[in-house]
Amino acid sequence: MTMVGRGILGCFILFLSLASVSSIKGTLSSIKDLKGIEFGNTSPRHGLMLLHWLANNIYNDNNGNMRLNFNPARRDYGFHFYRNADNPRPLPILPHQRGSYYSLGNLVQGNNNNDALALPDYVTQRFHNSRGPESNRDRVILRVREEGSNQFIVDEVYVTQHYPQNGNTRTGYDPDNTYLVSFSLLTQIQRLATIGRNDIPRIYNVEINHNSLQELENIWGHTPGLALLLAIVVSFTFRAQSYHATPQSTLKHEDNALIKLEVKTTDRGKARIIWSGIPKRLLDQGVMVVLHSNNNPDSKSELDRSSVGVKASGSYNTSVPLNPGLQVRLHKEVKTWWNYLGFGSTIGEEIWRGSEFHNANREIPVDIIGYDASLQLFVKDGKACARLYVKKSFTDWKKTFNNSWVGFYSSEGTLDHNTWQWAVKFSEESHSDWADIPGYDVYVYESSMTMSPGVQVRFILEKSGCKARSTLSMISSWKMSVTR
Ligand SMILES: *[C@@H]1O[C@H](CO)[C@@H](O)[C@H](O)[C@H]1NC(C)=O
Ligand SMILES: *[C@@H]1O[C@H](CO)[C@@H](O)[C@H](O)[C@H]1NC(C)=O
Repeated sequence: MTMVGRGILGCFILFLSLASVSSIKGTLSSIKDLKGIEFGNTSPRHGLMLLHWLANNIYNDNNGNMRLNFNPARRDYGFHFYRNADNPRPLPILPHQRGSYYSLGNLVQGNNNNDALALPDYVTQRFHNSRGPESNRDRVILRVREEGSNQFIVDEVYVTQHYPQNGNTRTGYDPDNTYLVSFSLLTQIQRLATIGRNDIPRIYNVEINHNSLQELENIWGHTPGLALLLAIVVSFTFRAQSYHATPQSTLKHEDNALIKLEVKTTDRGKARIIWSGIPKRLLDQGVMVVLHSNNNPDSKSELDRSSVGVKASGSYNTSVPLNPGLQVRLHKEVKTWWNYLGFGSTIGEEIWRGSEFHNANREIPVDIIGYDASLQLFVKDGKACARLYVKKSFTDWKKTFNNSWVGFYSSEGTLDHNTWQWAVKFSEESHSDWADIPGYDVYVYESSMTMSPGVQVRFILEKSGCKARSTLSMISSWKMSVTR
């Protein structure tokens, strides 16, 4: 190439990189600023729930740094490394070695590695109860720096959204709907949990409709501060038509949002359906709870069902082995002459969906203090299993954990393990979803112990000598309460 040619190419490259510099739309520094933007503002979008969740899982340390209660690099809560390589590029280019972006909020993920299921119900409820891509567009992005073992400092927080799917060929995040979120806004959202509704006009300089707030409180009241956030930000109420998944559906009433459908475990490792809050209107019509598996690639995902009868709350023990991805759905019950011949009722229209089973307390992995490793209890086919996350930089972990073992216990109080395995004898996770967490190796052990409420897994660190109970360095607790 000639000098001239190189010069032109150089100019061209310079032009390209200038053109790809991000231009976010602006900064959101108060709750009021959330009012005018698209993010989270129409149902069934989940952005405000994501932001509320983040505000309550981020904290200010004593040195003025914002830190996290979780590890985004380990994919906790479904966080994903975000390359910021969309065109146009939504976020500023990070200087080399100055942290990484992680994105939160994609609820449609791989079958096995869906830690977004660890997010609380209030974040995922709308997603489960509306069809179509709108409910999965919002994202929260963190710019973090890792400092020390599993410690993250948050430099910036952004909210953004995917382009709409209808008639749009772009697939990345939309810079025109990308905003920097100030830490002061996060603090304001946090404080909503402790502020009285009458103080809102004075503190935030906005009026709220008290009737709407009451309706929002009925639905989201168990999540402190969320109803207030929605009442301040969203100009219309979230009731009635906003819950219609499909406009023609007449069954999606606002009080459906009070319905709670959960999967728990029996003491035999089977899925236990627990329901509550079923309105009388539905009980009078006749409804049934149906257990589905969303991890089954084949279309027939129904596994078991039971009539709800006249009980607004109750439970039903299925004979289905407990697995991640199980979901309870409420359906209309259609009674025909078959029932009088002793056959079961037919399933009618779907009314509501609970969230998918992840692990009972939605626990993310627990750090093994002092080491770049963490442990997580999970369940597969009704058996207690453990997953060990080891940071790739912890290269001599097999030497360090040479005599360490993982014990499975029937409850928190018990000292005797039911079964155990050496940490170094765990097998490397080969499923692509798990093998693909940058920076971590994942190892699993599937025990023979039947899952039941209260099961716990503990990591016992032994420097040398035989397996013994005396040196207990870390406990990962996973209690599954039978009732809430
Ligand atoms: C269902 O399972 C729970 C938890 O194991 C148990 O306490 C309850 O007695 C079971 N109910 C029935 C009807 O078997
Ligand atoms: C720990 O190391 C010793 C010595 O190298 C070896 O004999 C033993 O099998 C190792 N333990 C495990 C559980 O692999």
